[in-house]
Amino acid sequence: MSIYLDNAATSHPKPPEVYAAVLDAMQHIGASPGRGSYGTALDASRLLFETREALAAFFNAADSSRIIFTSNATESLNLAVRGLLLPGDHVVTTSMEHNSLLRPLVMLQKDGIRLTIVPADAEGLVEPAAIRRALRPNTRLVALAHVSNVTGGIQAVAEIAEIARLAGALVLLDAAQSAGCLPIDMQVLGIDLLAAPGHKGLLGPQGTGLLAVAPGVKLRPLLAGGTGSSSDQDEQPDGFPEGFEAGTHNLPGIAGLKAGIKFLTAAGVDSVGARERGHGNYLRERLVGLSGCHLHGPRDQARRLGLFSLTVDALDPAALAFRLDREYGIAVRAGLHCAPRAHRTIGTYPAGTLRISPGWFTTPEELDRCYTALATIIQKGSP
Ligand SMILES: Cc1ncc(COP(=O)(O)O)c(C=O)c1O
Repeated sequence: MSIYLDNAATSHPKPPEVYAAVLDAMQHIGASPGRGSYGTALDASRLLFETREALAAFFNAADSSRIIFTSNATESLNLAVRGLLLPGDHVVTTSMEHNSLLRPLVMLQKDGIRLTIVPADAEGLVEPAAIRRALRPNTRLVALAHVSNVTGGIQAVAEIAEIARLAGALVLLDAAQSAGCLPIDMQVLGIDLLAAPGHKGLLGPQGTGLLAVAPGVKLRPLLAGGTGSSSDQDEQPDGFPEGFEAGTHNLPGIAGLKAGIKFLTAAGVDSVGARERGHGNYLRERLVGLSGCHLHGPRDQARRLGLFSLTVDALDPAALAFRLDREYGIAVRAGLHCAPRAHRTIGTYPAGTLRISPGWFTTPEELDRCYTALATIIQKGSP
C-alpha cells in the first residue's frame, strides 16, 4: 500500500462525500449555471450560490457575491494582483512567497509596479516591524502567504494586517496552505483579498479555487468573455461575481468543494488542523534523533502547521524522495517547491528540501512507516 504525504501539493484522498458530490453534479445536474431558465440550469445556479454562501460563512467574508470561483490558488493570486495594481503602486511582500504570488508581481514590475521583498529570518518567519519599515506613502498592497509551503511556518498575519490597515494599504493573503487547516476570519483579521485553492486543505477536487474580495475593493477582471449576463454589451461587465467568472464553470469541482467545506465544518477546522499538526510534530520528534537529519522551519510548535521540510547530510533531497517512492511507496516532494527565495532564506538553496505533508486521512502507522524508511535510508547512506 502506497503512502501519500504530499497533501501540501493537493490533498488526497478526499472525503467520500466529495467524490459523491462530483458524480452527482455530473449525472444529475449537468447543465451550466446562469445560462438557462430550465430546471437543471437553475439547480446549477443554486449550487453555485450555496457554495459561495458556504465559503463566505467558512471565512467570515462579508459578502458571498464577492467570492469568485477560480481554477486554483495561482489564478486567484493573479486575479488579485493584476486586477488591483496600477503603475506606480507599491507592493510589500516577503522572501517566503510561492512563485504563484512572486512571479505575477515580478511581471507587473515591468509595467511600473514597485516591489519590496521583506526578508524573513532563518526560520522563515517575517517580523511585522520589518513590514512596517517597508511601507511607503504609495503602498497599495501587502501580499503574503499565511503559511509557508516549505516550512509550514505561520506568519503573524493579524499584526501584519493591522500595520497595513493603519498605513492605508490593502492585504492579500495567500491561504494556499492554511485554508482548511487554520481558522481564517477575514473580517477579524482584516483581510481584503483572500486567495485559496479548493483542492488542498478545503478537500475539494483539483481545478478549484477562490478569491474572496472584501466590500469596497475594486478589481478588474482577468478574463473577458461570456458571463450569461449583460449579453447585449460588447464590454465585459465588472459586477461581482459573474463579471469575474467568464466562461463555463467547473460545476462538478464546485459541487465537490461544497462537500469538502461541509465535511470540514462538521469536523471543525480546529480539530482538522490540530490532527495535521499532531502528525507533523510526531514525525518531527522521531526524526530529530537521526544523525545527519536537519529539520527546518520554526522551532516553536505554535508557529507551525503539519507540513515540514528536512535535509539529510550528503543525501540529495531528490534522491531521497526517489528512494522513498521506489523502495517504500512513499509519496513526498523534493526540491524548491516553487519557492526559491524561501530556500535562500532558510539556507537550503539550491538543492531544496524534502517536504513531508500529512493530511487529515494520514494514519500514525503511515507516519511510523515513513520514519522507518527514512531512518533506514539515512543509516545506509548513499547507494
Ligand atoms: C503558498 C502557496 N501559494 C500558492 C500555491 C499555488 O496553488 P495552486 O496549485 O492551487 O495554484 C501553492 C501551491 O502549492 C502554495 O503552496
